[in-house]
Amino acid sequence: MSVQGEIKRVTTNTLQSMKQHGEKISMLTAYDFSMARIFDDAGIDVLLVGDSASNVMAGHETTLPITLDQMIYHAQSVIRACQRCLVIVDLPFGSYQGNSKEALISAIRIMKEAGAHGIKLEGGEEVAESIKRITGAGVPVMGHLGLTPQSIYKFGTYAVRAKEEEEAEMLMHNASILQNAGCFSIVLEKIPAALGGRVAAELKIPVIGIGAGMHVDGQVLVMHDMLGITKDFSPRFLRRYLNLYDEICDATKHYIKDVKSRDFPNEGEQY
Ligand code: KIV
Repeated sequence: MSVQGEIKRVTTNTLQSMKQHGEKISMLTAYDFSMARIFDDAGIDVLLVGDSASNVMAGHETTLPITLDQMIYHAQSVIRACQRCLVIVDLPFGSYQGNSKEALISAIRIMKEAGAHGIKLEGGEEVAESIKRITGAGVPVMGHLGLTPQSIYKFGTYAVRAKEEEEAEMLMHNASILQNAGCFSIVLEKIPAALGGRVAAELKIPVIGIGAGMHVDGQVLVMHDMLGITKDFSPRFLRRYLNLYDEICDATKHYIKDVKSRDFPNEGEQY
């Protein structure tokens, strides 16, 4: 039987145990009650209330504009839906980079106001002090290295990170700093598969990949991409499990036609 099959509520310890037993961790993003309920019922291990809400929910070009209050609103909706999975919430841009006290205050707001089970933040050595302070207050922290979208204006591109040896070594170094600072897990985004495997092999904590190859301890995708709601985003790492954009579009056209033709509602669909 799988580690996760035996438990009632996924915790950070469950993820650690899954890594030790070689059981892969499944993670998706979620931003609202209805979708989170479906994912939780389906048995997802972790839901991430990602700051990608800024893109897929609010329509911004980057993750930078979303606020802490908006993240808390999304997180509250997701938390209300989940009985089994672990729910982690992104600290948005501007809510933790100032100093470790600001980071702790933001993390505490997410824990108290949303009832989250932990937070995620982006960066390496520069956020280590904040991670120590947040974990010191009893809040589990997930790290995020590789392509870190909150730094998009520094990178200037969404291309694969750490292809060159120097950046790969720096990522390795930062990953062990995050582990030593107290992170219970790390997300690696858009890096070569071999490097993802190296990080997962060298760290004791679970490493979850998005575009980080098959050798990491688990996978995460943005729900809108996985379900095919987004149409124009097709990176190599993405596997679409549905084409909801087309299905919803067809259903909507069908509905419009039925309304216009007076087919809907019929005798049985009225009081
Ligand atoms: O915000 C987000 O969706 C994320 C995932 C890409 C890991 O951070």
